Amino acid sequence: MMYDTWREILRGFNTAQCSVLDARTFLVVLTSLLTVFYFKKKYNGRPVPSRGGWIPWLGCAIQFGKGPLQYIGKMRDELGPVFSLKVAGENLTFISDVEDFHHFFHSKSTSFQMAVQQPVQKLGCVSEELFFRAHTKLHDQVKSFLSPRNIKDLTSTLSQQLNKTMNEYTFSSDNEDLMNTVQHIMYKSILNTLWGDNNPFTTSHATYEDFIKKFKKFDGDFEYGAKLPSMLLPKWIAARSYLLNRMKITVNMLKDQSVTSKQSLTDALWEVMGSKEKNVHGFAMLLMFASLANAIPASCWTLIFVLTNKPIFERLMTEINDVLKDKTAEDFYLTDEDLQKMKYLRYCVYETLRLRCEGAIARRVINPINIKGYTIPAGHMLMISPYWIHRDPRYFDNPHVFNPDRWEHLSLDMKAFVAFGGGRYMCPGRWFGIMGMQSFVAMFLYKFKCTALSQPPKPSTKHIIGVQHPESQFLISYDRR
Ligand code: HEM
Repeated sequence: MMYDTWREILRGFNTAQCSVLDARTFLVVLTSLLTVFYFKKKYNGRPVPSRGGWIPWLGCAIQFGKGPLQYIGKMRDELGPVFSLKVAGENLTFISDVEDFHHFFHSKSTSFQMAVQQPVQKLGCVSEELFFRAHTKLHDQVKSFLSPRNIKDLTSTLSQQLNKTMNEYTFSSDNEDLMNTVQHIMYKSILNTLWGDNNPFTTSHATYEDFIKKFKKFDGDFEYGAKLPSMLLPKWIAARSYLLNRMKITVNMLKDQSVTSKQSLTDALWEVMGSKEKNVHGFAMLLMFASLANAIPASCWTLIFVLTNKPIFERLMTEINDVLKDKTAEDFYLTDEDLQKMKYLRYCVYETLRLRCEGAIARRVINPINIKGYTIPAGHMLMISPYWIHRDPRYFDNPHVFNPDRWEHLSLDMKAFVAFGGGRYMCPGRWFGIMGMQSFVAMFLYKFKCTALSQPPKPSTKHIIGVQHPESQFLISYDRR
């Protein structure tokens, strides 16, 4: 019937016209069919294996909250390489195979900014409008300020600050908690390096002690602060206000000084936002937080790994003594060349960042994506767990062993090493972070003879954002060399 109608219509055309029309019609139908098939395949994949709970909004928040890192590992074993967890109204979809990571880091269907905007608003009081206006430019500015080219200058500045802080540091007892010591020395040295010697966080002993107390509170409840209503966290809100106010003073102080962009991070902020912008300090405070939050626990872990493994300790000390032996006590600082010479130190730092790294990083899915035949709907958070990827024996042999020598054959560029995230918004402070860890560990071991008095602590698995802190104290006795 249909065929007859077509014949009638086509009868009026000559043969040549008919064959052109046939070919066109055929092409249109074929393209339509292929398009339908493609989108059906792309968006109508199987639903992702998931774990929720019997209370719809809450999902598996209670089990997750008890120990998120262990729970993620357990669910990956039970549900496979792509799985979703419904946690307090949010669908967290984890991917665990490196071959799928391009969806996370490079797809136009996932967004870093959409994943972090709301937390940034709650943590730093940065409005949505300011965030979307300034974030990318700011990221690029910070990346260029902390680029490998500038790190050379920052190496000598930071190591001079470390030297000063280590010389002034007084141990409160014969057996001190290592993390506490590392925090006291590194916070100050990094703050002075990035925000200038006169920053109001470190001006006097009392203000610095106050800063440490507030920073620890802000850091400790960071994940709750990003999610929960303010009224549930009055002490955390007080710590945030303190840090924001101090940062406002810092930023205004630096605005009045004519510093070049090599000297101050605030110049990077001004260049992006202009000096009329009132809310620079919100971004600045979060930047300050990012510069301290991961590098300090990671440095502490390098020391813990090294001090509890005699052959590694002895090999590292030989290298450090060899490079630093000719430095004079008065003018003791490190250069980029010094750090280049300490290859084993570099491997110890990389190996620490493999084993102690972010529990999870996130991107918001903005258009449905298909991964391994599963459809991940828009609105989900796509997640990667660096902590678990770095423990996957497919990517790292004997993954639970601290083995710096493995870096002889590996590189930071390998796809399975995601301690600094990846893609357009990869950590802009990574070179500074690595340099800070190397400088601190070398100088600390050179200046202090340390004896471990406790067993190595376990990493705390309570949080998924940021490098894990030690679960318990690691006591050390120190002698100045
Ligand atoms: C050595 C320890 C460090 C580790 C393990 C680390 C890790 C990370 C990770 C995983 C991200 C998220 C990237 C992504 O989702 O793809 C990130 C973001 C960031 N990091 Fe780091 N980081 C470290 C040190 C630093 C330092 C020293 C600074 C600054 C001086 C810094 C500044 C930042 C900033 C500003 C962001 C957010 C980027 C944006 O919003 O565009 N980090 N970091």
